[in-house]
Amino acid sequence: MRNPPVSSHPYPVNLDLSGRSALVVGAGAVAARKVHGLLAAGARVTVVAPEAVPELAGAADDGRIRWHQRTYRRGEVASYRLAVAATGDVGVNGQVYWDAEAAGVWLNAADDPERCTFTRPRPPRTRARTRARTRARTRARTGTSVLVTVFLVGAGPGDPDLLTLRAARLLAEADVVVHDRLVDARVLDVAAPWARLVDVGKRPGGPADAQDRIRDLLVDAAGRHDTVVRLKGGDPFVFGRGGEEAEALRRAGIGVEVVPGITSAVAGPAAAGIPVTMRGHSSGVTVITGHQDPTAARSIDWEAAARLGTTLVVLMGASRAALIAEHLLLGGLDATTPVAVVESATTPAQRVVRTVLADLPDTPVHAPAILVIGSVAALDVTDVDLGDLVTSTASEHGGSSWLN
Ligand SMILES: C[S@@+](CC[C@H](N)C(=O)[O-])C[C@H]1O[C@@H](n2cnc3c(N)ncnc32)[C@H](O)[C@@H]1O
Repeated sequence: MRNPPVSSHPYPVNLDLSGRSALVVGAGAVAARKVHGLLAAGARVTVVAPEAVPELAGAADDGRIRWHQRTYRRGEVASYRLAVAATGDVGVNGQVYWDAEAAGVWLNAADDPERCTFTRPRPPRTRARTRARTRARTRARTGTSVLVTVFLVGAGPGDPDLLTLRAARLLAEADVVVHDRLVDARVLDVAAPWARLVDVGKRPGGPADAQDRIRDLLVDAAGRHDTVVRLKGGDPFVFGRGGEEAEALRRAGIGVEVVPGITSAVAGPAAAGIPVTMRGHSSGVTVITGHQDPTAARSIDWEAAARLGTTLVVLMGASRAALIAEHLLLGGLDATTPVAVVESATTPAQRVVRTVLADLPDTPVHAPAILVIGSVAALDVTDVDLGDLVTSTASEHGGSSWLN
């Protein structure tokens, strides 16, 4: 069966959804954004999905939405006034589409314009769009080709309040946001309601294949849209493959503007009250990937890292924490060296575990996590015992407390 042709002359309307029922099939980050918009319009929202992102599960717990924790049942869309299909599964979205058509229910199928019988209107152009357009007409430094620009943007560690102003502005104006799997749903929520969100986190094929696909997708999007954002967790140039993507885009004739983000390498420790450098503790910080197998021939020299004397911050080390600890001990780090594990930093799921190097192998570490190794890892400078502060300050001031 073929879908009817997509109209090039849509009929703009404002729907009053107040108290009316809406079905959202799917409960991932995209579905969460749709639910957010529907709730804001006063709709009574039902979500159908076997699993849900934490914010939707939370909304169901709070009674803000109804969640049927199962797969979509053929024909059930007919009981609703309007529906959204956002499962990421073409087969399920297709079934919802045909059911909605049969029942006369308006449907928005995420990322599938041919299966949308309604879409959200686009706002008027803004200054940044105009800027992007201007940039698109700028001549390349090296030749005569006309450049379009992709914005390579750091999403920060998770909390949307930790986005840079530039990142938030670009997201609010984006036509397309191509994002990694780790990017927090609340950050994606900052994106314009009309923005097409493309999750390139999980794809079949090896990493090289994935990188080629991402480049092709960005090149294609840059040719069609004014504001294309490539959104990467933390900072795009800290273990984010941002460098490779920027080079690939430039080779494809696309301009790149980099918007740095707050890296989890410092935001993770900071969220646990750990300064990565501090007088009397550490005069440097070394950020290392834990992704490589420490026993492989061409891997990080952990024994050498142990001798650096700086704070070590390990990213992507969750599954190899035990091996990393073993090699650092071999390199001469003391068994009692403090270690902090910071999981899901700056998100509602944040968890901090303090231990010592010798006990790290027995400490469960759940990704995404940062390992902080060094004396600063024992600190939480946001939780200083005020009693100690009063005593030490009082003695520094010759015995009189400044709190008097
Ligand atoms: C591929 S690297 C990307 C790093 C990112 N570009 C940055 O600057 O934070 C992914 C790793 O970053 C770390 N990470 C990212 N976000 C995190 C968070 N909110 N909490 C803890 N670790 C995080 C984890 O070690 C994770 O395995």
